Amino acid sequence: MNDRGKVAEAVVDSVWAPGRPVWHLELAQSTQDCMRSWVHAGAPSGAVVLVDRQTAGRGRQGRKWVDPGPGNLFVSLVLRSPGRPKGLPSFSPLVAWTLREALGRPAACGLKWPNDLWWEGRKFGGVLLESLGGEPTQVIVGVGLNLRRPPRGWGELEGQATSLEEQSQEWTPTEVLRRWLPVVEEAWSTFSTDGFAPWRERWNRACVLRGRRIRWVENEREWGGIAQGVDDEGSLQVLLEDGRSKSIHAGEVHLGGGTG
Ligand code: BTN
Repeated sequence: MNDRGKVAEAVVDSVWAPGRPVWHLELAQSTQDCMRSWVHAGAPSGAVVLVDRQTAGRGRQGRKWVDPGPGNLFVSLVLRSPGRPKGLPSFSPLVAWTLREALGRPAACGLKWPNDLWWEGRKFGGVLLESLGGEPTQVIVGVGLNLRRPPRGWGELEGQATSLEEQSQEWTPTEVLRRWLPVVEEAWSTFSTDGFAPWRERWNRACVLRGRRIRWVENEREWGGIAQGVDDEGSLQVLLEDGRSKSIHAGEVHLGGGTG
């Protein structure tokens, strides 16, 4: 066995499917960084890094992902594709959709574009997709889900964040993983050849923004309009007040306000 193989073997403590190892740690700064090192040491597609506590979790757009206490899900998964999937960033909203599926598609759980999981207006989960570049295509999918009520409350996130426990949903990290990993791997396989389009309708059915007024900032200007849902590329379509349509490809949108 070469050196890379040895590193991988040393860190693995179980497999979730043949050839797909899981590295389970009590504590790490960020599962994304653990996975990045493991990829350099030869992690196969489907490998998973799972941690119990995370001290420097990363969120989208340079934000932090707060660890609110024990019992939550912090996981990274590496996926590889021999081809070049088109519209790679739209895999991120698709991952949010796979998580909702894994949770049993509860009616109160919605998708907030691009890739947040909401429960009645509050966020309980997010997805961070990092592409490693080169060939074959490699992505590290990071998922954080708030499963447990935070022992010391939400602090500055009060009113914006929630957990499944607070919504009377009892889940452990391993139960979520067991159900989610096959769903996301299957989605990746279809996405690699067909892109986001096959999920458009299903994604829109779970979209919490559809038909609602949203606002966002683009080129230092505040915009507003009515969200129409996502298109075949996973971009958000918005109807502006003057009747024009606009596509938002990336970034952050907020409910309410604005004119446009
Ligand atoms: C977001 O909504 O901003 C995305 C949050 C993603 C957080 C997860 S937790 C596991 C993985 N490791 C990280 O450092 N970030 C992701």
